[in-house]
Amino acid sequence: MGEPKIFFMFLAMVFLKGAVSKVHTVGDELQWNTGANFGSWSQKYNFSVGDTLVFKYVKGQHNVYEVIEATYRSCNGSTGVLATYESGNDQIELDQARKYWFICNVGGHCLGGMRFFIDVKES
Ligand SMILES: *[C@@H]1O[C@H](CO)[C@@H](O)[C@H](O)[C@H]1NC(C)=O
Ligand SMILES: *[C@@H]1O[C@H](CO)[C@@H](O)[C@H](O)[C@H]1NC(C)=O
Repeated sequence: MGEPKIFFMFLAMVFLKGAVSKVHTVGDELQWNTGANFGSWSQKYNFSVGDTLVFKYVKGQHNVYEVIEATYRSCNGSTGVLATYESGNDQIELDQARKYWFICNVGGHCLGGMRFFIDVKES
């Protein structure tokens, strides 16, 4: 009878996947908006390969640019942009162990604090 064994393997896989992959809503309940402190938000969590970031905001009011470090520092999103998102419910899977830098490229939002970086570790 192999069925119980397969069932337990399935359970173990579901459990392990649930234990290692996390979904992080950027800014928690404040979401991706002006007024939240994303530097301190990003320091509250550990990020691992396989986790997902969700940016929630009113479409058109903000956007999400994944950028290089220099662009994160300058807040000038006309260069050094790796990816852009603007749906208002952007789901970004962290599929590599590396640093990721994010800014909002609307108005002065980046200089106003809508930027952070995370250092994603192997899970
Ligand atoms: C993050 O990882 C560090 C080092 O492994 C650990 O001490 C800390 O408790 C972790 N923080 C969270 C929020 O899981
Ligand atoms: C942003 O960078 C571009 C390209 O390097 C440059 O032309 C522009 O003047 C910069 N904008 C600001 C506000 O510094």
